[in-house]
Amino acid sequence: MLPLKSAFTTNLPDDAVELRAFTHGLMPATVPDMMQAFVEDWASRGVDAWNRIPNHWKDSDDPPIGWWSLPEYLADTFVAPAIGAPQGTSILQPNVHWTVQCLLSAPETFSEGSHVVLTEAEFPSVLHSLKQWRDLLELQLTIVPLDESGFVDQESVLDAITPDTDLVALSHVGFTTGEVLQDAFLQRVADKVHRHDGLLLVDGYHAVGSLPVDVVELNADLYTGGLLKEACGSSGNAFVYIRSDLELTPRTTGWFGDADPFAFASEPDVHPQVRYRFQGGTTAVASMYHAVEGLRILLDAGLDHVREYSLQLTERCITRADAAGLAVRSPREASRRGAMVILEVPMAGKLCAALKEHHIYTDSRQDKYLRMAPFVWNSEEEVDRAFDVLSKIVSTGAYRSTPASTTEEAGPVT
Ligand SMILES: Cc1ncc(COP(=O)(O)O)c(C=O)c1O
Repeated sequence: MLPLKSAFTTNLPDDAVELRAFTHGLMPATVPDMMQAFVEDWASRGVDAWNRIPNHWKDSDDPPIGWWSLPEYLADTFVAPAIGAPQGTSILQPNVHWTVQCLLSAPETFSEGSHVVLTEAEFPSVLHSLKQWRDLLELQLTIVPLDESGFVDQESVLDAITPDTDLVALSHVGFTTGEVLQDAFLQRVADKVHRHDGLLLVDGYHAVGSLPVDVVELNADLYTGGLLKEACGSSGNAFVYIRSDLELTPRTTGWFGDADPFAFASEPDVHPQVRYRFQGGTTAVASMYHAVEGLRILLDAGLDHVREYSLQLTERCITRADAAGLAVRSPREASRRGAMVILEVPMAGKLCAALKEHHIYTDSRQDKYLRMAPFVWNSEEEVDRAFDVLSKIVSTGAYRSTPASTTEEAGPVT
């Protein structure tokens, strides 16, 4: 069944090898029809589409859906099975940044002391947000440095959690390293922070879609991520899971999260469902039409199979990188390896640009890391072809003279 090339559409050249599943990868083939469905719903129903549209996602009109209910319906139907969330506990979000603002603005999140533990490898939507709120909330941030190999120093994270810790924020899969934090470690973190009523927030952006996740098993209080990247969607769609017995009342909540939005009352009315309180103003409807097209493909294939296949491809990358004498920066062990392989190469920006000239699409970071994530649309032969070219241009050093203009155009991507 895998690879699933025909489930995706591309106008890239026939010989293209798209290795950027860590960002916008190939487009699911159903997206044009889904966007057309949005156009038709708008044209034929106008404002009434907020209350009722045909169900373009399942062959059923039960429950009846409309633009209002899409954030909860799509989360319950597609996100929840991908992350093991019970029904009623997840909802679509515009991005992870928004989710974090909601969490930080909830008075229940922090008690006196306001101690937060995170690592220096958190994405800016978490790391910078905590720093932005630090003065206002008088947060004490313990930012745990990475270990000497550049991975999460797990014992130091556990040691940093004290009885005063209100929040621990960790990435399930590191965006710079591709390191997967094991369930057993995240469970230990959850146990320790729960002992004193603190919360565990997991940023699963690079986990969702690429490996089976069970948020209940992890014992996470909140689990957020995007539907872009390994979940094979586009921008505008993220999600949050909130543990069912958690009481949070974000101050950033908007009228779409109000219990009675059309009352237009002078006072906000707290929504009985906590997940709804993470809604702000009017939702971006068009992006929801493509939100789960990637997840649909991955769920149909089975996330266990997707994980197995992704590991097979990344294993091949590592074997070929070793043969070419290239330094591998991501973990080698399968259980600690996400969908991404990162190679450390001098002038990675120029290398990335040179590869693009050969229709091999990777990404570079800080001019020293070449990032690649072969995924469900790639075959092992494609990985080999990419490495044939890569090994050749690295060994001749020819890529070092790639013009600056070509290099600028080539990267980096989100
Ligand atoms: C780990 C991680 N979290 C979050 C994001 C994106 O956050 P946002 O949805 O706020 O843009 C990324 C994007 O690359 C990421 O890698």
